[in-house]
Amino acid sequence: MFDYKTLIYNSAKDVLEGLEISDVAASDEFCDYCIPCFKFAKILRKAPAMIAADAVSRIKIDGIKAEALNGYLNFTIERNAFVRRAFESGGEYKPLAGKTVCLDYSSVNIAKPFHIGHLMTTVIGGSLCKIFRELGARVVGINHLGDWGTQFGGLISAYRRWGDEGRLNARGLDELLELYVRYHSESEKDEAVAAEAREWSKKIESGDPYAVGLFERFKAITLEQAKKVYARLNIEFDSYLGESFYVDKVPAVEKKLEQKGLLKMSDGAEIVELTGDMPPALIRRSDGASLYIARDLAAAYYRHENYNFDKCLYVVASHQALHFKQLFKVLELLGEPWASDMIHVSFGMVSVEGMALSTRRGNVLYLSDVLDSAVEKAAAIIAERNPDLQDKTRVAESVGVGAVVFGALYDGRQKDKNFSLESALNFDGETGPYVQYTHARCRSVLAKANYGCSQNVDCNLLTDDEAYEVVKLLADFDENILAAAVKYEPSVVSRRLVKICQAFNRFYNADRIMCGGETEKARLELTLRVADALKRGLSLVLLDAPEKM
Ligand code: ARG
Repeated sequence: MFDYKTLIYNSAKDVLEGLEISDVAASDEFCDYCIPCFKFAKILRKAPAMIAADAVSRIKIDGIKAEALNGYLNFTIERNAFVRRAFESGGEYKPLAGKTVCLDYSSVNIAKPFHIGHLMTTVIGGSLCKIFRELGARVVGINHLGDWGTQFGGLISAYRRWGDEGRLNARGLDELLELYVRYHSESEKDEAVAAEAREWSKKIESGDPYAVGLFERFKAITLEQAKKVYARLNIEFDSYLGESFYVDKVPAVEKKLEQKGLLKMSDGAEIVELTGDMPPALIRRSDGASLYIARDLAAAYYRHENYNFDKCLYVVASHQALHFKQLFKVLELLGEPWASDMIHVSFGMVSVEGMALSTRRGNVLYLSDVLDSAVEKAAAIIAERNPDLQDKTRVAESVGVGAVVFGALYDGRQKDKNFSLESALNFDGETGPYVQYTHARCRSVLAKANYGCSQNVDCNLLTDDEAYEVVKLLADFDENILAAAVKYEPSVVSRRLVKICQAFNRFYNADRIMCGGETEKARLELTLRVADALKRGLSLVLLDAPEKM
């Protein structure tokens, strides 16, 4: 957008000796920008009011009105000039071109259901991928699979004892989950079960074809399910390299740690001592097994070497905060300058209100069940509001899934959330369906008027309060998207979308669009710009933008 602050600064600095850019302050009720003149009184040996009065006569900026009031220089942007500039700018905005961002998100665990606990990492990460890409960055979306650990030995042993090929094929992940639960309870009672599990676990590690084959089968079943969810959320990954990939890369990390004198032995285990309030990082257990943080260290090196990232983000729940603090600290101790480019993008807990317990399986709430339930509710609402709508099934899917995703991305990520499907689906609330509906309303106005592509319009006709408010929110939408990237916070975009909708709906109710002549054309142009901005913003927070609803 047009940088008014700099424009005012540049025009005023010759008149006001010692003026700094920070002296130009953003709006209060009298104006859009102001410069308090008090600090110049000493330098210029004049009263602030006189300085302001004198400056006003000498500062001339096209499209900005200057006034002196009580020792302040007040600047008011002329609305028609603002609208003109806002409409003229636009075009490519790629401030992050040339940057590379690695985004580790969703990162599901093999043989575990895709439950509601994965919602936040998946949608925050997915949305950040789109936001960074939109700004021109190269993004590597990584699903750091949890595919390593002794639990898989337990699963193989359980499958061999109580499982069955046919049931596994038919029931997939449900079967795996049940086997796993059974393994857990039986291994507590029977040491032989646990011992057998350890044997299988070793066989996977040593590459025994039968054990590895079964494990790969479990992995495929898990990913097949997860990918179905990803498709519904408009998410794709660039890499599915999981923890197991890094196991044979841990020794290289240990070597680096050793060379720096960081690797200590403690009760037969390898550790790195950390200062301050942090407990030591456990690299390898005394039984020789590598640990989670060791594989993450190897992964960090791998990513740095292969992608040469400018930032490496980990979208993981806040309860892993210590793990990431330790991880980044160890890299810092290793002297890696890029340690400071690693960021834990943390978030709070989520629960869903109004999901009957009967849909919980084994005490976990499947994300796909939550989505299905939202889609079902959306379908009922749509059937009532717009019974003749074509493509109802597809729209219900977009609206239902969108309601859940938007609900998850609407509050700041750190906040714990308990959201209800009812309110997430409220077409008049601060919700995904509200934004989608406003978008569809814009498109239907445009379709009726047969207004398809942008035209030159008279900007003087968009200066009433309602239209101007909309223009202002569109004018710095690019900067808003950049702010979301800088804060790793998709809610910056989702909140702006709701604001644009609210302003547009006020405009729609106050100003009749189909009023004929040049005014109609100007209002249609504004409507088209709103529709395009909403569609763009919706896609950044992973939502579809149906043309009709
Ligand atoms: N699979 C892990 C979990 O579900 C999250 C992994 C996060 N990424 C990472 N590089 N540690 O808790």
